[in-house]
Amino acid sequence: MQYRRLGHSGLQLSALSFGAWVTFGKQVGRGAARELVAAAWDHGINYFDNAEGYANGEAERVMGDAIADLRLPRDGFCVSSKVFFGAADEPLPTQKGLSRKHVHDACHAALKRLRVDYLDLYFCHRPDPDTPIAETVWAMDTLIRQGKVLYWGTSEWPAALIREAADLARKHRLHPPTMEQPQYNLLHRERVELEYAPLYGEIGLGTTTWSPLASGLLTGKYNEGVSADSRLGQEGYQWLRRWVLGDAGERRVERARAFTALAAELGVAPAPLAIAWCLRNPHVSSVLTGATAVAQLLENLEALELDARVDDAGWKRVEAAVR
Ligand SMILES: NC(=O)c1ccc[n+]([C@@H]2O[C@H](COP(=O)([O-])OP(=O)(O)OC[C@H]3O[C@@H](n4cnc5c(N)ncnc54)[C@H](OP(=O)(O)O)[C@@H]3O)[C@@H](O)[C@H]2O)c1
Repeated sequence: MQYRRLGHSGLQLSALSFGAWVTFGKQVGRGAARELVAAAWDHGINYFDNAEGYANGEAERVMGDAIADLRLPRDGFCVSSKVFFGAADEPLPTQKGLSRKHVHDACHAALKRLRVDYLDLYFCHRPDPDTPIAETVWAMDTLIRQGKVLYWGTSEWPAALIREAADLARKHRLHPPTMEQPQYNLLHRERVELEYAPLYGEIGLGTTTWSPLASGLLTGKYNEGVSADSRLGQEGYQWLRRWVLGDAGERRVERARAFTALAAELGVAPAPLAIAWCLRNPHVSSVLTGATAVAQLLENLEALELDARVDDAGWKRVEAAVR
């Protein structure tokens, strides 16, 4: 495993990390979840991601139980949660968003579900137009001063809002956001590569990027349709299916087909190739992966060796294939 600094902070995260979205509390049972956490840990993954909204909090319960069962040393791993969407199907007005009250309540609920005394990373899962940014920055700073959170950050915030939060923090001597959690994969690059570009130097922003396989699309598993046992075949996830497969104009399946054909030509599996491409960006602190089976996780870990096996011309062809 390689370890990378989270932006300008001193925190060393594994370059590949592991998250629970759609899988824990939904697609995989408790035994399989424990095996996945164990395999990740055994291969040097030290960062596990979650959110209050994943399976209405159940993903955090499953992950917390797995980590406790495995007796992972608290000073050896990092765990994150995210606040905004709430943990109920139909959250009450105070059970969602980024008000001081919900940030406070959601943090304490996540600590209980994850069975830890503090969160290493805590994210504002989306911007909240109904809460002044200053209120959220103060609420995060308070949690840090109380020792309940170590680093706070944002997820899918526009660069201008991240900068506003950082400026506010500097002005009032509060803890600024340390990291963003944006989507980043071969089919979705602009925000990480262009929009956030000035923030890496200006405020030392780190990134823990999500969906390196575009929810599995880049493995080629949807090249010929959607099977019922895959993520996009899950009941209640029709919205995700529409989003991941896109409309005709986006040619997303076509681009995934071209990518998987090239991977075959290069003699490498598409999943680790897509993940290795994310790792090539030095502004990526950790690539968050997901898996429903240990075999997938092990295949994805091969990404760590691929950079040396594909030359510059090969990487140019990879990028050209998905245009
Ligand atoms: N902040 C945010 O808004 C946000 C949003 C999304 C995700 N995230 C975080 O990022 C993490 C990773 O995102 P993601 O789960 O979307 O990542 P991903 O790598 O794009 O998709 C993971 C899914 O692809 C399939 N897969 C993985 N490896 C495979 C392999 N080698 N061969 C075939 N299929 C494979 C599995 O689903 P099937 O087996 O069901 O096909 C797996 O659950 C999440 O768990 C979550 O922690 C954050």
